[in-house]
Amino acid sequence: MAHFIITIDGPSASGKSTLAKKIAQRLGINYLDSGAFYRSIAAFLVEKGVASEDETFLSSFLQSAKLKLVYEGSFARYYFNDLEVTPFLRKELVAMKASFIAKQKSVRNFVNNNLQEISNKGDFIADGRDLGSKVFPLADVKFFLTATLESRAKRRELEQKTMGIDTSFEKVLEQLRLRDEQDSKRKIDPLVRPDDAFFIDTTSYTTDEVCEEMFIEIKKKFSVQPSLFRTWICVFLKSFFSLFYGFKVMGEEFSRKFLSGLVYANHTSFYDALILLTLLGPKTVFVASERVVRKNFFIRIVTSFFPLILVDDQNMPKDFFRLCIKTIHKGCPLVIFPEGMRSLDGTILPFKVGITSIILHCKLKEVLPIYIGGVYSIWPKGKWFPSFFKKITVLVSKPLHISGHEKGEGKEARVKLTNQLRERLKNLEKHFKETYECRI
Ligand code: DC
Repeated sequence: MAHFIITIDGPSASGKSTLAKKIAQRLGINYLDSGAFYRSIAAFLVEKGVASEDETFLSSFLQSAKLKLVYEGSFARYYFNDLEVTPFLRKELVAMKASFIAKQKSVRNFVNNNLQEISNKGDFIADGRDLGSKVFPLADVKFFLTATLESRAKRRELEQKTMGIDTSFEKVLEQLRLRDEQDSKRKIDPLVRPDDAFFIDTTSYTTDEVCEEMFIEIKKKFSVQPSLFRTWICVFLKSFFSLFYGFKVMGEEFSRKFLSGLVYANHTSFYDALILLTLLGPKTVFVASERVVRKNFFIRIVTSFFPLILVDDQNMPKDFFRLCIKTIHKGCPLVIFPEGMRSLDGTILPFKVGITSIILHCKLKEVLPIYIGGVYSIWPKGKWFPSFFKKITVLVSKPLHISGHEKGEGKEARVKLTNQLRERLKNLEKHFKETYECRI
């Protein structure tokens, strides 16, 4: 599978790493800090008291060296030859040594090989000096950030003072000027702005403003274009339901505006997923039970045309939440049936807690509840074929705003939110029964 790579290049203290981290979290992808690779080598040498920076020595030393990253969420801990170097990476002595050894070919090859190898394992946002130009020339989105030397020095001074480091503006300015010179004047892979990179001067913008601008660019590339085949399936389904059923959607404007996000619905019939496809379109992604999909041949065939995020009944797969965030940020509606199975009598069953876990983990601000009415009598579980020429009424609610993620993910918060979500669907069911069911 081809992975998604975003690169950010730029001089020291231009805001690369702060922005890369923010975007990594928002997109649910990993952050790859190439500067930390150089710093890891430097930190190891400093910690072990190795003073030599000689090219021949480093070249043979790196031949048997190993760099390992252990991810905790989007961020990594760094191990060089099994010594954890993470705590030493931000030391100024390490930064200067990193900048110095980064001039050497063997060091650059070692780092670049490691970066490329790791990037094969998933989607990444990587920052550095030569990532868009040299390491990932085929990256999906490239950025080049810069800012005036003075404003970068101000930021770095503040950052260091917050970390309790005793420094001054003049000292930081001089350090940055020196590093700029080393990074952009070296012969091998100097800091350059790739032609196809999106350029941002961050001097007079806040981090949030730059982040938004970058996000717009990423979304343009990130958003999936569904195949023509899937689009035709959705058109076909819409015609099918309109032709063979009295198919009515109330509140369609809410689903039209809710282009990407978590959608949940009641589940009484095999038709439910197909109805949601007609409503939400060809980019729809379903969360489905691995057990159900595996055991039902017919469901397997139908779902093979549409992307699924499969969940195990017992545990959430490792990357489950990140897949959910990525799906939503790709501009896709993500659909879940929170009852976890089709209802045998048409009523809304208790909700599994999975939906709440998705909302809390992915910090979603709103979800869209949909009630599908009338289909239970048309094609309930256990019936081989559906009946035709009956009414199907879909009620799309206003999106439900979620607040209080910050209160944590304790059991009480989960139960409360799960009940709230179910209550909203019950209200729609009530409205359906009072207004539409009696007219079938
Ligand atoms: O981004 P940083 O300050 O953590 O990087 C530390 C040093 O590593 C920097 O002075 C230059 C070097 N570096 C590089 O040469 N190429 C990269 N892609 C990233 C960093």
